[in-house]
Amino acid sequence: MKLAPSILSADFSRLGEEVAAIERGGAHLIHVDVMDGHFVPNISFGATVMKSLLGKTKMPFDVHLMIENPDEFIEEFVTENTAYITVHQETCPHLHRTIQEIKALGVKAGVSINPATSPSTLDYILEEVDLVLIMSVNPGFGGQKFITSALEKVEALKEIREFHNLNFEIEIDGGITLENLKEVVDAGVDIVVAGSAVFGAKNVEVRTKEFLKLK
Ligand code: DX5
Ligand code: ZN
Repeated sequence: MKLAPSILSADFSRLGEEVAAIERGGAHLIHVDVMDGHFVPNISFGATVMKSLLGKTKMPFDVHLMIENPDEFIEEFVTENTAYITVHQETCPHLHRTIQEIKALGVKAGVSINPATSPSTLDYILEEVDLVLIMSVNPGFGGQKFITSALEKVEALKEIREFHNLNFEIEIDGGITLENLKEVVDAGVDIVVAGSAVFGAKNVEVRTKEFLKLK
């Protein structure tokens, strides 16, 4: 399992230090939650904030675009640290084209689904994507309660992946804590996002290590 702490819950006045703490703790990726106030009822930050971390960390960026018309903004998020760019199925009428565009920029392409969206909506794109991001909260805010039906989706996707011999990774995002981490990892996710449970801790480095110890 790889850990991707979400900087949405970091102290932005000390973002560099916060990121250094998760890096010392052994986190694998920085989860970058971009919200536009349209697709989700909250505005977070854009590419400028993400780019302020360039040269300050070796950790790759895992960009989660919770925005309408993502095609217009994808390129802004491509940097030397950008490993994944994930768009929402619900925002992409031409999802196949959007996924191809991300891959053409040399970045791994992900697709995310909200809690009320079925994994079956991804049947005809799974062959193309590098990552499926299952939302285990309704996106928009950190610190919400885990929606357990996300685990059924993880299981279903694992079966499809095996049956069709596909290669995409499975990521889960929202409401992950030290308490439910084991259940989530046992379900077979490859990447775990955690925001408030990491950055809400008194000692972010120690908390990151606690997450990785439990995996
Ligand atoms: C939800 C975001 C998540 C969220 C995770 O809108 O996509 O990445 O910030 O935060 P926690 O772990 O606090 O639920
Ligand atoms: Zn996210």
